[in-house]
Amino acid sequence: MRSAGSGSGDRRAGTTPVHRFARTPWAEQAPTYAEADPSVIGGALERARRRPSGNWYVIAASRDVGRDRPVGRTIAGRELVVWRDRDGRAAVGPGACPHLGADLSCARIDRGDLVCHWHGLRLDTSGVPGWSPMPCHDDGVLLWARLDIVGGEQPTVAPPGSARPGHAGRLDAVATVVGVCEPEDIVANRLDPWHGAWLHPYSFARLRVVETPDPDRDDRFLVEVVFRLAGRWGVPVVAEFVCPGPRTVVMRILSGEGVGSVVETHATPLGPGPDGLARTAVVEAVIASSDRPGFARAHRVAPAVRPLMRRVATRLWRDDIAYAQRRYRLRTAPGYRGSATPAASSDPVSRGLRPTA
Ligand code: FES
Ligand SMILES: [Fe+2]
Repeated sequence: MRSAGSGSGDRRAGTTPVHRFARTPWAEQAPTYAEADPSVIGGALERARRRPSGNWYVIAASRDVGRDRPVGRTIAGRELVVWRDRDGRAAVGPGACPHLGADLSCARIDRGDLVCHWHGLRLDTSGVPGWSPMPCHDDGVLLWARLDIVGGEQPTVAPPGSARPGHAGRLDAVATVVGVCEPEDIVANRLDPWHGAWLHPYSFARLRVVETPDPDRDDRFLVEVVFRLAGRWGVPVVAEFVCPGPRTVVMRILSGEGVGSVVETHATPLGPGPDGLARTAVVEAVIASSDRPGFARAHRVAPAVRPLMRRVATRLWRDDIAYAQRRYRLRTAPGYRGSATPAASSDPVSRGLRPTA
């Protein structure tokens, strides 16, 4: 397989992973619309949507929930409170106090119990009649809640997972962005790798999709791309995109700098906003690793690097959320035809979402 950075005009900078690549003006890149077949994207999306979730939803970054105060979340229209018990284990319960409904995200924590700030009711992980905590999973980077009444699927003991780099010498950061859309719009955006160098020219160059999902084999996209650093300098990698669950897309670097690093994109439905339209949170966990000497000590610089990692992810999601919101608006607007799984057609433009005449 040809490396994204190995074509003519590229030059390696000594032994560093950074390559100089031949710069192509944005408008002169090879168009990708003919390859970005809506039926391929739609098919991959449909298969992802049919995968079991076990009713698990990402609710927060693990490090965002400390021992000192609870955190409130609304998932699929349900108010939740997240806190840590006496042993530091994460716990999730209904967000309204079972007495008169006070907001438990404003409760105090005392020896690992929630103490309601309206009348002092003490709540712990064993619950009380009318108020039962739900299963919670802390994978060290993300917190998940199992909401059986929302998911309606067969519950599982743990969320659908995928391999992550080992703990030693890895860096992780979690960024969250909220959009007016549904989870499938977020997943559909991630299952369109062809937009990368067009919509995010500041981050990607020379993107080439070398494998599209085959449900009978590896149901994945394989992409060669140069992550742009500055000007003509960038890091070429080969990455795969897979969906381990209906609301998750995982990008894993298979070759190039940072092999094994993953970007997990989780789409969590929040419920309708004040305008009645759906809101979805994109919770993106970047878990970076490298076998380079010195990276094993990355944890020392993590507090400084983490905000930078979050900023990069958030910048990309500013554009991607606009894509997802646009998709949601089109597919839910009256008078539009097209769907998440448009039928195959020989005309690459008409296969997508478009208004009826
Ligand atoms: S509302 Fe919580 S104790 Fe009364
Ligand atoms: Fe994107």
